[in-house]
Amino acid sequence: MDWGMKNRLSRIINPVTKRCVMLAVDHGYFLGPTSGLENLGKTVKPLLGHADALMLTRGALRTGVSADIKVPIVLRVSGGNSVVGDDLSNEDITVNTEDAIRLNVSAMALSIYVGSQYENRTVVNLAKIIDQGEKYGIPVLAVTAVGKNMVRDARYLSLASRIAAELGAHIVKTYYCKNFRKVVKTCPVPIVVAGGKKIPEKDALKLAYNSVNEGACGVDMGRNIFQSDSPMGMIKAVRAIVHENASVKKAYQIYKRG
Ligand code: R5P
Repeated sequence: MDWGMKNRLSRIINPVTKRCVMLAVDHGYFLGPTSGLENLGKTVKPLLGHADALMLTRGALRTGVSADIKVPIVLRVSGGNSVVGDDLSNEDITVNTEDAIRLNVSAMALSIYVGSQYENRTVVNLAKIIDQGEKYGIPVLAVTAVGKNMVRDARYLSLASRIAAELGAHIVKTYYCKNFRKVVKTCPVPIVVAGGKKIPEKDALKLAYNSVNEGACGVDMGRNIFQSDSPMGMIKAVRAIVHENASVKKAYQIYKRG
């Protein structure tokens, strides 16, 4: 791995703890004005001091985030679908890698839809973005997206995660599931876990706790942070779990303190 690639990766995943709290706010690329992100910049600003990386779209970065940001950017470079469209898997590459370089991003992120109608295109797009990333020293985060009718079990998620890693992804984002250790064991690159739809705070903290205790390097969490009644409390609590191995009970107290 070349120096630039290593340097960018080390900005995202702490080289000492090997852990990462990534704040995901890229939802607008297919959900539009997602609840909690109506004014993305306002939501994100106070949370930045507690995030190791910020995952978002090019438009959100330009319009909602100040260019003097110190937090490394993970730029979503796939899209083309919407929540009201025919098929969520109908995604393509939406950002030219040269623009990602101009935006000084630390990684590019793209979704693959294994087992869905547009599987082939999304998986080949991942390979194309990885080739671009290798050319310029930019790591790629593969998002193992799941279609409406797909079961998020260890068999499926390990299939999708392993395919992403085999194609050369540097980090994989997937979901927590029963027998999650199998997903981690069979994926040779670091895994971050998505939070998914908003659930009660204690459950979201438990999800983060189980994920890192079963081998994830951290979380790429969105709605369970920014849709919480205390986004600040939640990000601090998640951070305590990821970086300090805090218990769910301790983390919940941190959330309550805000
Ligand atoms: C979904 O594909 C988006 O990339 C989100 O970033 C991802 O789902 C993580 O956000 P959340 O924790 O809200 O699921």
